[in-house]
Amino acid sequence: MAKVNQNFDNLVPNYLFAEIAKRVNRYVAEHPDNHLIRLGIGDVTLPLAPVVVEAMKKGCDELGCKETFKGYPDYEGYGFLREAISGYYKRFGVTVDPDEIMVNDGAKSDAGNMGDIFSKDNIVLVTDPVYPVYVDANIMSGRKIIYADATPENGFCALPDPSVHADMIYLCSPNNPTGAAYTTEQLKAWVDYANENDAVIFYDAAYEAFITQDDVPRSIFAIEGARTCAIEMCSLSKTAGFTGTRCGYTVIPKELERDGKNIYQLWYRREATKFNGVSYPVQCAAAAVFSELGLQQIKENLSYYQENARVIAQTLDELRIPYTGGINSPYIWLQCPNGMGSWEFFDCLLHEIEVVGTPGEGFGKNGAGWFRLTSFGDKDKTIEAMERLKQMLKK
Ligand SMILES: Cc1ncc(COP(=O)(O)O)c(C=O)c1O
Repeated sequence: MAKVNQNFDNLVPNYLFAEIAKRVNRYVAEHPDNHLIRLGIGDVTLPLAPVVVEAMKKGCDELGCKETFKGYPDYEGYGFLREAISGYYKRFGVTVDPDEIMVNDGAKSDAGNMGDIFSKDNIVLVTDPVYPVYVDANIMSGRKIIYADATPENGFCALPDPSVHADMIYLCSPNNPTGAAYTTEQLKAWVDYANENDAVIFYDAAYEAFITQDDVPRSIFAIEGARTCAIEMCSLSKTAGFTGTRCGYTVIPKELERDGKNIYQLWYRREATKFNGVSYPVQCAAAAVFSELGLQQIKENLSYYQENARVIAQTLDELRIPYTGGINSPYIWLQCPNGMGSWEFFDCLLHEIEVVGTPGEGFGKNGAGWFRLTSFGDKDKTIEAMERLKQMLKK
């Protein structure tokens, strides 16, 4: 008999988005003439930048021509894209060699698969609230998981506890769902902890492009000591609207070793075995993102979302509702008003003002009583949603 991976029994069913869909669908069925505004989505809504579309089309044309046709791409991604990414890092003062970059089909794949090259005996540390992929991927592998609490007291930026040992540490900054982002000093504490514990940090920087504050690093490699303990996972999904196009990249410093093994080489071996790369037109499109014109054009979309975030944050300020995020992040994480629970507030928003958000509880125990709004929606609808919220709470 083919036995199955029994660790799957240990997964906690994630009802969050299914339950949201169920409640919203029921509401829509009962109120066909509704004016729902969705501020719960973690997906972008603006189209790809024109220069990116052009590059993708050109890539397709090349595939349609015998002289320029291409077959399987390099496992690590084409040199032209890795050069472009390395140049992007230089803009914020970080040196990453093109040979330390592995191109992939998005950050989720690497966040979920990186565990392949690490022992099942490792102790995994994640923060709570957490992007569920880190937890579920490690439950599937049977690893022990411990939690570092991100709470209002620490500004939702959990810091290491020197009395606790961990081997694999997942950090996400700017954070999904809380929108909180580590300062240089806070991140240095994690880097020092990881080096002292011979641990590896999996640093998810999917939202780095939203950072606006100077003391919040765009990369963990801006921190001294990170090259001997960190792997950085980045994505074009939110930076450049690639959620449907699919492209990301992971940086593994060449000197990173554990257990006498080179981590880049292990990961390369894993990718060469299980992954055949990202399509040529998509890599052309990704490289165009990092061109001068590409960076200018994606900035317009980022500014649009940042303005939405500002509108939400300003409304919460007016209403004196505590929150994090919105400054270096597309997410705003707010305390449910009047002591409401996350689901209670969800139902209240849905039924009273027809606004949909995401209950914080779905991201861990510390999310109870908290709520996530996103800035990825339409500008006018975001303004309208905030007007409705003001009216509801000022009643
Ligand atoms: C923290 C975080 N990491 C990774 C991802 C997935 O990124 P990608 O689309 O590149 O797979 C997301 C998507 O929502 C995310 O929030």
